[in-house]
Amino acid sequence: MEFVEHLEGGTRLLVPRASLTQDPPPTAPVFFNPAASLNRDISVVITAAAGGTSFCDSMSGVGARGLRVAREVGRIEKVAMVDFNSEALKAAEKAAGLNGVAGKCEFSASETCTYLFSRYRRDEKFDFVDVDPFGTPVRQLQAALSATADGGIVSVTATDTAVLCGVYPEVSQRRYAALSLNNDFRHETGVRVLAGALARQGAQIDIGIVPVFAHATRHYIRVFAKVVVGASNADESLKKTGHLASCLHCGHTAVSEAAIPSCPECGKKPTRVGPVWLGGLSEPRLLRSALRAAEEAGLRTAARVIGSFDGVDEFPPWSFSIERASSALKVATVSESAVGRLLTMGGWKVKRTPFEKTGLKTDAPHAEFLQAVETAARKLPESVPEAQSRGPSQK
Ligand SMILES: C[S@@+](CC[C@H](N)C(=O)[O-])C[C@H]1O[C@@H](n2cnc3c(N)ncnc32)[C@H](O)[C@@H]1O
Ligand SMILES: [Zn+2]
Repeated sequence: MEFVEHLEGGTRLLVPRASLTQDPPPTAPVFFNPAASLNRDISVVITAAAGGTSFCDSMSGVGARGLRVAREVGRIEKVAMVDFNSEALKAAEKAAGLNGVAGKCEFSASETCTYLFSRYRRDEKFDFVDVDPFGTPVRQLQAALSATADGGIVSVTATDTAVLCGVYPEVSQRRYAALSLNNDFRHETGVRVLAGALARQGAQIDIGIVPVFAHATRHYIRVFAKVVVGASNADESLKKTGHLASCLHCGHTAVSEAAIPSCPECGKKPTRVGPVWLGGLSEPRLLRSALRAAEEAGLRTAARVIGSFDGVDEFPPWSFSIERASSALKVATVSESAVGRLLTMGGWKVKRTPFEKTGLKTDAPHAEFLQAVETAARKLPESVPEAQSRGPSQK
């Protein structure tokens, strides 16, 4: 296998040549995905913002994330890279030398859970543990939580997005013990299914979580959570999980522990979602500092993604879709900005959702949102034919 040097962020990586030319990159004999650089950029700036000195890249491949943290986060003193693929680790070890960080890196050709569960002594735990498997991270959740120091951060990537975002709710039920749903806020639902599973698996071993950031793309869902050790912290996190009733017909959504037989707005049957994480997903101080770190490092997309989270926890754990509302109302679709303006004038808070391509987060009930969509549609010039005004998105 031919390895070539590849610069990402400020770090020199050694990666399979084919991984830079094939899309998707080959998984064997060694995997590296250049398209996941944003995912790693965000890890670097959150690690830089959070404090702590030790980082475990527990499924490191060629060490892209661990090496970047070692090279680009000055405060970090120790990075452990773990993978059962020793070819990948050899490339990581060589690249550590190229970046002058060999002294703070260690490499373990080991199975991830075996390695993480062996770090049970307090002084062997890490301030950060990252889990980045192919597919679901569900097997690694308790191992990662166990190896993270009290107050440290665990970050988890899931690439089974079709399961988490409701294309296969029965698989989500089996895998995450929660029903996902392919609704108008499917990525936020997926994030909350994953965070909810982390909270419940943590609670089983007396560990609570406080999510500090999350993001979702078509290819992966990612959650960062602070680990807080102790049974009462575990109980507190469990209290923040619960169910939603989500109406696929009109978009009405509510927190509801009991299954609801009929939607209060359209009368059809809403779908039960969950249990999901209903609590906050951001820690504003940490994110402000991560945003600064991203700007200083010139990581513009990471800065935009983190910036889009500002104020997200002031809203309920869902968003509403203009397309859904206008189709339920049988009116022409209207712009998010027009509906946003009407809601703001009515005294409601509004924000573009950071999780989906389109959609508004608002503290207004769905009925108010529908009303705003209807009012905005009535204000459209009558000469605009419906087909013309119904673009995929007018934003
Ligand atoms: C998606 S890749 C990780 C990519 C890497 N984090 C990056 O940013 O380039 C998943 C890696 O996990 C490793 N892996 C999968 N299951 C594992 C396990 N149970 N124990 C150890 N390594 C594992 C694979 O060999 C592979 O290198
Ligand atoms: Zn409805």
